[in-house]
Amino acid sequence: MDARDQIDMTRLPRHVAIIMDGNGRWAKAHGKPRVFGHRNGVKSVREVTEAAAEIGISYLTLYAFSTENWSRPASEVNALMQLLVQTVRKEIKTLQENQIRLQTIGDRSRLPSKTARTLEEAIEATRTNTRMTLILALNYSAKWEIAEATRLIANEVKNGTLQPDQITEQTIADHLNTAGIPDPELLIRTSGESRISNFLLWQIAYAELVFTPVMWPDFRKEHFKEALLDYQHRERRFGKTSDQLSSQNV
Ligand code: FPP
Repeated sequence: MDARDQIDMTRLPRHVAIIMDGNGRWAKAHGKPRVFGHRNGVKSVREVTEAAAEIGISYLTLYAFSTENWSRPASEVNALMQLLVQTVRKEIKTLQENQIRLQTIGDRSRLPSKTARTLEEAIEATRTNTRMTLILALNYSAKWEIAEATRLIANEVKNGTLQPDQITEQTIADHLNTAGIPDPELLIRTSGESRISNFLLWQIAYAELVFTPVMWPDFRKEHFKEALLDYQHRERRFGKTSDQLSSQNV
């Protein structure tokens, strides 16, 4: 029996977010340049997207490029941007066939024009797909996103369209890049690091965190399913006690 047979299909997370980590170390362990790790990481992106769609996850968010990643050597940044363009162009047909909608979070305006254009075309072409939404976090950081939301809200207050005492948690959620997308219930990070690295800080308030030692280029469908099983074995209390939860369930 594989992990899929044990997954409770009635208790799936609607949204899974992944910090794809370990490409560089994986490449080094294979005696290859870092870019080799990123190239192999694309295979894992494909596997996980396919697994998530097959299982019935509605939203999958992948942390592909953080605002901090600009400080990597220019050759690595360029290679990542190229890889993104190649992958999106190559996979657009599969996205369409599988009814997968592509979206991004992060500041697309600062991406190289070719990367931004390719993404925009793919986003537009897949806009009406309904099976699953694949969200790539690109030039994204959570602190940037929260500062951006604050600026938008401050402008509305300045214009008089919003009163300060009308600002609620929902107001903030509605001004984040993820407006309208449910918060992730599960966050996975690969490569044995146990950090959040400025990813979806607001949205993961109640997410279950799964840290796996598997390096991203080695991450396969089976690892994704194991993370889902781990999630399903946890009790999500949202600040309540176990007894309160069991009495709700009877
Ligand atoms: C982290 O490994 C990985 C990244 C910053 C980039 C992830 C990109 C891809 C998998 C390829 C393109 C993506 C898509 C969506 C087509 P790292 O470089 O931080 O590894 P290290 O921690 O071992 O150095």
